[in-house]
Amino acid sequence: MGPRPSQEILIAGLARLEYRGYDSAGIAVIDAEGGLNMRKKAGKLSVLRDSLTEHELAEGTTGIGHTRWATHGGPTDVNAHPHLADDDRLAVIHNGIIENFSALRAELEAEGVTFRSETDTEVAAALLGREYRKTGDLQSAFLAVVNRLEGAFTLLAMHQDQPGLVVGARRNSPLVIGLGEGENFLGSDVAAFVEHTRHALAIGQDQIVSITPDAVTVTDFDGNPVEPEPFEVSWDAAAAEKGGWPSFMAKEVAEEPEAVANTIRGRVRDGAVVIPELDGLDDLFTGINRIIITACGTASYAGLVGKYALEHWARIPVDVELAHEFRYRDPVIGADTLVVSISQSGETMDTLMAVKYARERGARTLSICNTQGATIPRESDAVVYTHAGPEVAVASTKAFVAQITALLLLGLHVGRVRGSLEDGAASVAELEALPAKLAHVLESEQGHVAQLAGWMADTRSVLFLGRHVGYPIALEGALKLKEISYIHAEGFAAGELKHGPIALIEPGQPVFVIVPSPRHSALIHAKVVSNIQEIRARGARVIVVAEEGDAAVLPFADEVIRIPLAGAFFEPILAVIPLQIFAMALATAKGLDVDQPRNLAKSVTVE
Ligand code: G6P
Repeated sequence: MGPRPSQEILIAGLARLEYRGYDSAGIAVIDAEGGLNMRKKAGKLSVLRDSLTEHELAEGTTGIGHTRWATHGGPTDVNAHPHLADDDRLAVIHNGIIENFSALRAELEAEGVTFRSETDTEVAAALLGREYRKTGDLQSAFLAVVNRLEGAFTLLAMHQDQPGLVVGARRNSPLVIGLGEGENFLGSDVAAFVEHTRHALAIGQDQIVSITPDAVTVTDFDGNPVEPEPFEVSWDAAAAEKGGWPSFMAKEVAEEPEAVANTIRGRVRDGAVVIPELDGLDDLFTGINRIIITACGTASYAGLVGKYALEHWARIPVDVELAHEFRYRDPVIGADTLVVSISQSGETMDTLMAVKYARERGARTLSICNTQGATIPRESDAVVYTHAGPEVAVASTKAFVAQITALLLLGLHVGRVRGSLEDGAASVAELEALPAKLAHVLESEQGHVAQLAGWMADTRSVLFLGRHVGYPIALEGALKLKEISYIHAEGFAAGELKHGPIALIEPGQPVFVIVPSPRHSALIHAKVVSNIQEIRARGARVIVVAEEGDAAVLPFADEVIRIPLAGAFFEPILAVIPLQIFAMALATAKGLDVDQPRNLAKSVTVE
C-alpha cells in the first residue's frame, strides 16, 4: 500500500509467490471513491490476469492478493480468496487451516450469517465482520478475532471504510513486512515485495501488524506493542527471475555449482570446517548422545545422506524421521537429543511442528534452512543457512545439493568438536572441489541425459536403485520423476530388491542404478554390480550412473552416465544431477509445466 496503484504490484507479487500454490488466485483493492473491488478466479494466476485485462477492475492504492493451494473446499472461483464480509465492505485473505472453523461457522449461522463458500477463511471473514460492526475499528476487531481462532493462520484484512490500512496476524504461518518509501508491504515471503524494497521486518508468532503508507505497528495478541526485528534481504529481484531460461527448474539446476560454493563459503578456516553461526555452541554437540534429523520430501533424502556422513565423522547415532510421523509416535527424546530439521522454505508446517514438539520435550534444535528469517530457524536454538538463493520451481534441485553440502559441513564441524574426525583436511579439499565437478557434470552429461529422456517419453514406470549414500539419491531420483513427469517411479536400496521389488522387473523395464566408486569400498561396489546383473538377467534396461573410469559396469549397462571421482560422501551431490535433468527433460518431452506440477505446492504450510 502507498501512492502507487496496487493492482500491478499485487499481480507481480503473486507471480513470485505462486510456488506456494496455484489452483486459484484473487485480489481486492479499495478505489479512490472508497469502494472495495474484488476479482478471483480458479486456475493459475494467468487466468486472473487475463480476466483483469478483459474486464478492468477499478484502481486503488490499498490492496491485498492471494494465491491458493486448496485445503477446505475445492479450487473454484467461489472458494478462492479474498473472502468478503460486512456487506462486501471487508476483504480477507488467509493461509493455513483454522481448525475450529466448524464450531465458529455453526455459531455464525445460528446468528443468521450465510456463507457463499466452503472455506474456513470465509468463517474468519464473517467473524471479523461481526466484530468490526461493534467498534468500526479494524485493529480492535482483529484482536478479538485472532484470539478465537485455533490452528495455523496468516490472516490479512482491509475495510473500505478505513482505506489506507491493512491489518495482518500470524500464528505458525509466515508473514513479513516490507518497508518502502511512502509505501509498505506485507507478504508471506519477502519475494512478494523484494522488487520494491529489501528492507524487511520479521513478525513473531502470535503477533498482529497494521500498515499504512507511512507507518507500521506490531502488537501481540493481547494488544501490547512489540518491536519487530529488522533484516535486509540478501538477494535482489533478479535472482528470482527466469532470466532467459525455459523454466525456473532449468535455471536452478544450472545454479547448483554456485549454490554449493556459496554454502561452503566462509565456513572453512585453516583447512578445517568451522561454521561461524555455531561459534560458542559446542555444547549442542558434546552434551548429546543422539541426533534425529527431521524433514519432509526432498529435504528428508538430504537428511539420509547426512545420517551416513554424520555417523561416520562424528561417531554419534543419527536417525532420520519424516517430520509428520515424528511427533505422533511418542518418540524417546530429551536434553541428550539434538533434533536437526531441514527445510528449504523454513515454513513447512509438518517440519515446524516437529521442531516445536522436540523443543517442548527438552531436545536441542538446529535448523538447516534456505530462507533467511523463516519460522523454523526462528524456532530453533541454532541455524545453518544454505545459501542456494531463492528456489522457485516446485521440485527442489539446487536447494537439495545445498542441503547435503550443509549436512556435510555440519558433520565435519561436529566431528571436529567431538574429536572424532580423522580425515578432516582431505574432506575439506573434497568439499572445495565440488562446485567445479558439478559444473563438469552439467556440461558433459546434460545432452546425453536429455536425449535419453526424449527416447523414454512413453515410459510408464522407472525404478531407481542405490546402496549406501546412493540409496537416498535413488529415492530422490524417483521423487523428482513422480513430482514433475507424473510417471510411476520408485527408489529402492539395491540390496532390498531381491526381497520383493525384483518381481516388478519385466523385459524393457528401465532401471537407474547409482553405482558407488570402487575406490571407497570394493565390497559395496561389487555388491551393486551383482545387483545390476540380477536385474539385467530379467530383462531390465539398465542405466548406470558411475564414476569416470569404472569399467566393471560396462558389460551390464545399456547406458552409462559418468560423474567425476569424488569422496564417498560427496558423490551423491554429483550423482543426483543427471537424475534431476532426466526428470526435467522427460516432463518437458511430455509437454508438462516443470515449474508448477499438478496438485503440489512448494511450501506446504498446512499439516
Ligand atoms: C513440499 C514440496 C517438496 C519439498 C517439501 C519440503 O512437499 O513439494 O518438493 O521437498 O515440501 O519442503 P521444505 O521447504 O521444507 O524443504
